[in-house]
Amino acid sequence: MKLTLHVWRQDGPNDPGRHERYEADDISEHMSFLEMLDVVNEELESKGEEPIAFDHDCREGICGTCGMMINGVPHGPKTLTSACQLHMRSFSDGDEIWIEPWRATAFPVLKDLVVDRSGFDRIIQAGGYISVRTGSAPDGNAIPVPKEDADAAFDAATCIGCGACVAACPNASAMLFTAAKVAHLALLPQGQPERDERVLRMVGQHDAEGFGNCTNHGACEAACPKGISVDYIAQLNRDLIRATLGDRGEG
Ligand code: SF4
Ligand code: FES
Repeated sequence: MKLTLHVWRQDGPNDPGRHERYEADDISEHMSFLEMLDVVNEELESKGEEPIAFDHDCREGICGTCGMMINGVPHGPKTLTSACQLHMRSFSDGDEIWIEPWRATAFPVLKDLVVDRSGFDRIIQAGGYISVRTGSAPDGNAIPVPKEDADAAFDAATCIGCGACVAACPNASAMLFTAAKVAHLALLPQGQPERDERVLRMVGQHDAEGFGNCTNHGACEAACPKGISVDYIAQLNRDLIRATLGDRGEG
């Protein structure tokens, strides 16, 4: 395949950015999107030019580092697929592809396609520890958890912290991420003692980081490579109201 790329290049956080045009030849449809960028970078390096900076680690869709906008869509055109799991067969010979970093005030660009997502780490950190001693794995497995709750907690825990939800949201809200992180503990018995404080602290940190508010667009769920449901945001709002009112009753 032969492709024309328009890639956002930015030397540093305080430098102006611009789109640079590159021709990518000899691209196999079996390559992943990141392998295609590797080929472009090898070519740039062979000419003594600065390679395109982009984040990646596992390249297996599990670490969440590889986020980028591809033709204006977080992680590109394939649903439920992170950029590292996107293959070039999703594109056609002769395509023009626009590649840009996440755009959000709370995710400042560090260089080219790399943004600072440490705000996510601070939201998780704000949740704090759970005080329940869970023991070793066999002890954990001995605690009875209703199957429905276990499944819902596990689904929430599949969030990889990539930030696509923020990039897709017109408000740059991180509510889907925060809701997933709140829910996977709130749904389990071990998460109950600190449930109220945790949701208050994590939502407080979300706001302090400069992420926007959720106004129910649903773009986050559509962009999420792990299919995290906006239902978790509804659950988060219920937890938040109860915690704010100090009412830990059922319902
Ligand atoms: S909720 Fe989905 S899109 Fe948002 S950080 Fe988690 S995995 Fe990524
Ligand atoms: S590089 Fe780990 S999810 Fe893409």
